[in-house]
Amino acid sequence: RRLIPPSQPCRAAGGTVATRPEAAKGVQRPDLQVVRKSFHALQEERRERAERSVLISCSPKVSEKKLLKFLSQHGNVSNCFFYQSYGVYAVVEFASKNSIVGLHESTSLPSMHHEVSVPFKSRLLTLKTNGSADQSGGSNSVEFHPQVAMPINELLQQLSAEESVDQQLSRLTSALQLTEENVSLRFLVCSLVKDVAAAFFPKCTVHPFGSSVNGFGKLGCDLDMFLDLDAASGNPKRKPSGFYLEYQMKREASERAVTQSVLSVVAESVEQFSPGCVGIQKILNARCPLVRFSHQPSGFQCDLTANNRVAMKSSELLYVFSSVDERVRGLVLAVRYWARVHGVTSSVAGAWISNFSLTALILFFLQTRGPPILPTVDQLRDLADQSDQCCVEGNDCTIVSDLSRIRLQTNTESLERLLQEFFEFYAAFPFNHMSINLRKGKEQNKPESTPLHIQNPFEATLNVSKNVNAAQLDRFVALCRESAWFLQQEAGSKPATVPTGGSAQAWGLAALFLPSLAQAAGVKGRRKKKREPASERVKSLLQSISTSHSSQ
Ligand code: CTP
Ligand code: MG
Repeated sequence: RRLIPPSQPCRAAGGTVATRPEAAKGVQRPDLQVVRKSFHALQEERRERAERSVLISCSPKVSEKKLLKFLSQHGNVSNCFFYQSYGVYAVVEFASKNSIVGLHESTSLPSMHHEVSVPFKSRLLTLKTNGSADQSGGSNSVEFHPQVAMPINELLQQLSAEESVDQQLSRLTSALQLTEENVSLRFLVCSLVKDVAAAFFPKCTVHPFGSSVNGFGKLGCDLDMFLDLDAASGNPKRKPSGFYLEYQMKREASERAVTQSVLSVVAESVEQFSPGCVGIQKILNARCPLVRFSHQPSGFQCDLTANNRVAMKSSELLYVFSSVDERVRGLVLAVRYWARVHGVTSSVAGAWISNFSLTALILFFLQTRGPPILPTVDQLRDLADQSDQCCVEGNDCTIVSDLSRIRLQTNTESLERLLQEFFEFYAAFPFNHMSINLRKGKEQNKPESTPLHIQNPFEATLNVSKNVNAAQLDRFVALCRESAWFLQQEAGSKPATVPTGGSAQAWGLAALFLPSLAQAAGVKGRRKKKREPASERVKSLLQSISTSHSSQ
């Protein structure tokens, strides 16, 4: 496994120093030439933009021009987009946060006949007209940015119209991945929740984490939030000399108890005061206490946690992995979609593989390619500098933040090939005695007897996939086998004829996503691709399919 630090020879896995011809010649993969921002820089930029944004419910016929003209009396609008959820909403970002103060001052309280409004003035507003004014823009209707993924039938149609599996994979990525607008909306919703918590903790922040920011989010995924009180509770850096004051504070028995009481109070406030937040559930006895609710105007299901810094760090790790090479996101989105349509993963928690575990399996597979497509977590730590040092609850969570330092040997495998090989890799993986270790990029003996063992990269004693039972793992392995076999038959085999007047026939990736792979394999009229004789590896794979799937 080899990684090339900038302008210095590579320390190979065994500790010996190896010079690399690619490094000497300055060869880089094209995608690495686009220098991506560090996770923190990107998060901070988006958080700051969300702070000067408002969410406005509008008429479906609203005119963008009229709305912007009306709002510009409070300052310059730097960005604005519309979407349709339960109604039409505009996300409006002002150039300056001061504009929100002016906007709030000129905003009226709603007039009510039978009820009384709770006087919490949030940044969720409604555009009203007083009779003489008209919101509509005639024929100039606004463009709505989609905030959810397209229905599966439509997606399969689009995939089937592509010419190759690689094109299908790229189409799938652009159809599913989070858009810039969707990410902005996620940060805005966090910022709105922060306003509620700030009533108690004025300097707190609410950060999105998980798939909203790790590069692997799919339109419609949940919004994981982390309430960060550290800025609010931190001690001054300099030791005081002479007199100093100390806060008097209530005490709790444990950090967990503090988290539970903070979340409980914030949950009550969100429920009582925050417009648009409904269905609040306190799930405070979970391993990681959380508050779940729906944010209706955005359609996001939100999970608010506190004191969850390691999860924030693992989101950063996944962001780094997703930024290293554009094939990573393509493969993760495709495998996640495949897993979801075949019931390998689910939106509810249970004994099945979670998206996070599945992502870890994919990343590990990419670490084991020759040459590797992803570095190991240890290599990311070795590339870190002093400012990247990070220790959370005794765990070393240091990873490099400067993405330009990550350089790997060129691997030119196509996404189609990687998908095929992913299925083959896990169809034959010795899950019964081996564990997945992303820190080392190597499998190692299982430390415990759970069916699936994936070591948490930042908390070595934890198994990310502790919840997975043997039946679910068997199902995953069986589906990997069937999919590997299916792609061997199908890869690149677009049907020769397109049915007249009908929709395109599902093939390749689209057929792989059909509920029954067996049914997909039996679709009539597909041109059988003449392939070279199967390799020994594939032959043994085919043999293993004919034997019982319960051998794991
Ligand atoms: N997480 C973790 N250990 C787990 C599960 C989750 O550290 N066993 C952290 C990961 O950082 C993960 C985040 O919590 O990204 C959010 O978890 P979850 O919402 O389950 O996963 P996502 O990656 O957000 O994927 P999804 O799209 O399914 O929400
Ligand atoms: Mg999530």
